Amino acid sequence: MPYGVGIDLGTSFTSAAVHGHGGTRMVPLSPGVVIPSVVYATPDGRLLTGAAAEHAARAGGDSSRLARGFKRRLGDPTPLVLGGAAYSPAALMAAQLREVLTHVTRVEGEPPDSVVLTCPAIWGPYRREHFAEVPRLANVPSSQLITEPEAAATHYSVERTLGDGEVVAVYDLGGGTFDTTILRMRAGEMEILGTPEGIEHLGGIDFDETMLAHVDDRLDGAVSALDRNDPAQAAALAETRARCVRAKETLSTEPDVELTVPLPSGPRRLLVTRLELNEMIRPSVRLTTDGLRRTISSAGLRPEDLSAILLAGGSSRIPLVQQFVHEEFGKPVRAALHPKFTVALGAAASAARSSQESTQRLSPVSPPGGFPRQTATGGTPLRRRKWLVPVAAAAVVALVAAVTTLILTAGNEPVQEASAGSGSTPTESTTTTSAAVAPSIAPPVGGSASTSTRTEPTQQTQSDLPTLWVYDNGPVPPFHSLIASTDNWAGVDFGEEGARQKPISATPDGQGGLRVTWAGGSPGQIYIQNVADARDLTSYVNSRGALVFDVVVHTAPADRTTVAVHCIYPCASEVVATKMFRGMPPGGKVTVKIPLTCFTAHGLNAAMVNTPFLVYTAGAFDATFSNIRWEANVSDATPCTDMG
Ligand SMILES: Nc1ncnc2c1ncn2[C@@H]1O[C@H](COP(=O)(O)OP(=O)(O)OP(=O)(O)O)[C@@H](O)[C@H]1O
Ligand SMILES: [Mg+2]
Repeated sequence: MPYGVGIDLGTSFTSAAVHGHGGTRMVPLSPGVVIPSVVYATPDGRLLTGAAAEHAARAGGDSSRLARGFKRRLGDPTPLVLGGAAYSPAALMAAQLREVLTHVTRVEGEPPDSVVLTCPAIWGPYRREHFAEVPRLANVPSSQLITEPEAAATHYSVERTLGDGEVVAVYDLGGGTFDTTILRMRAGEMEILGTPEGIEHLGGIDFDETMLAHVDDRLDGAVSALDRNDPAQAAALAETRARCVRAKETLSTEPDVELTVPLPSGPRRLLVTRLELNEMIRPSVRLTTDGLRRTISSAGLRPEDLSAILLAGGSSRIPLVQQFVHEEFGKPVRAALHPKFTVALGAAASAARSSQESTQRLSPVSPPGGFPRQTATGGTPLRRRKWLVPVAAAAVVALVAAVTTLILTAGNEPVQEASAGSGSTPTESTTTTSAAVAPSIAPPVGGSASTSTRTEPTQQTQSDLPTLWVYDNGPVPPFHSLIASTDNWAGVDFGEEGARQKPISATPDGQGGLRVTWAGGSPGQIYIQNVADARDLTSYVNSRGALVFDVVVHTAPADRTTVAVHCIYPCASEVVATKMFRGMPPGGKVTVKIPLTCFTAHGLNAAMVNTPFLVYTAGAFDATFSNIRWEANVSDATPCTDMG
């Protein structure tokens, strides 16, 4: 089956997505889906990438062989020296690309028909020429190049979050660069207006350095005094840096964070607050909004002409960034639930068209909209103005209905999300379910043995299929219980003590149940998820299986309420269960049995389930859930149509 792949070789993380017959989806490269953009040169001259590289550096204790952040060095004639050998940044990026393509090919069972790579919009001909070396060195015969904000915009457009005639800005703040572009939707096409631009060397890595310098300051220079030539001290520095990154990311959801710095003289603890971080990065964030303003002007527009600003890139999750962008331009700010995936998903959607065309004729693959597209192996220059990008395939539009949109509503208010998801989000306009159907069986997240997953015999109907317990007086390992809401859509994993966010709280009731209270006013969800893996549960579907749970409704739902199953973002399916919950006697325990076919009929890929239970609502609702499981051979399940 022909498919296209989009690969985002980011400064900090590398990710890949594919588009095939059934839609667009991420290809997990690790348990966290993305892999770090790092390369390790082994003493025998091999280049390891991603987690293997990090592992080798840790195991060998030789961080001088490990390179990170080299995308920023592309075009720099001075090579990187790893373990005494010189490498060009292009060679290191090629090693990453080769590894990712090998993995994708293994997972999909065949090589892709088209490959779309992405690069920062700010890169001019010189850097693009150097980047053209990357696929060449990786032995990728033909690939295409689009800019990262264009890819992000494509992703938003296929998610249907853009209406006809809408003019939007993309604001992409990743690990290494800031990129921005303006585009207009017209008759199903995306028109790039003005000059996409960006700021080099402005991204999460810089915020990490700022945080490290702050910590060093607070510890009277104890961090900068560490001797990088001493292996133990170099390791302490690397660990401190990693903790600073984690602390920075935590401050996107928490007001403060305690940081332990592992100094050779003993650990030192200090508290860092979000306000401190805000003060440190405010000037940089100001530069990004200035950049966006210039891009808007370059398109001959004013901020008032925009209908929204779309956020992409991991650093766009920083609350100050969202607040600044909203305050500065007074426009709704929309953020994807997983901003780190946006570029790869958009590139894959873009590759889809090329992939379809390549089935009709072999080469060269023409760009969307019939305009010349730059090939990553050189050639036709990329048109930077009025480049028409048809909104990938209609199939993609239909399938990726899971809108992952945050809308910033007012000044300093926290972001409000129009919809939600542990990986994808239901929308109010979705009547029953929404999903991206993965056509082929994907591997378990983080699993490399894709072949065994593909060939696993799952079609048999089994009468003795054991009950799959998901929550039994607590989440049953490997499942975790999480809540997520407008406070933090990334999800808060909780244990016996429960968890609370503004619109939702969840507390184990001590009698085997989990009491979940939605306060109303903004959406929230409870879900049980295997955070590290996905399982092929097709056999439950084939055996007349059902999602079964007990529920005591204390207060009926005030708003539309859904029960969902997820199969790794953006694959998901939900049933509307408002009527069902409202019809239950308050205070009485009811056993709910939802046929799994209600989910598979609307896009659940049961071969890769990671979230077997999720309840979402935006209004007030109070209920205790218990005994959550998947059962086979359920003959008395509720018809799908009776729940909404
Ligand atoms: N919740 C968060 N809060 C703050 N920063 C975050 C959060 N999550 C991720 N980041 C930061 O986002 C950056 C990575 O984002 P992303 O993967 O989009 O960048 P990239 O694609 O590798 O870089 P670039 O696009 O600049 O080449 C890292 O610096 C990471 O620390
Ligand atoms: Mg990026």
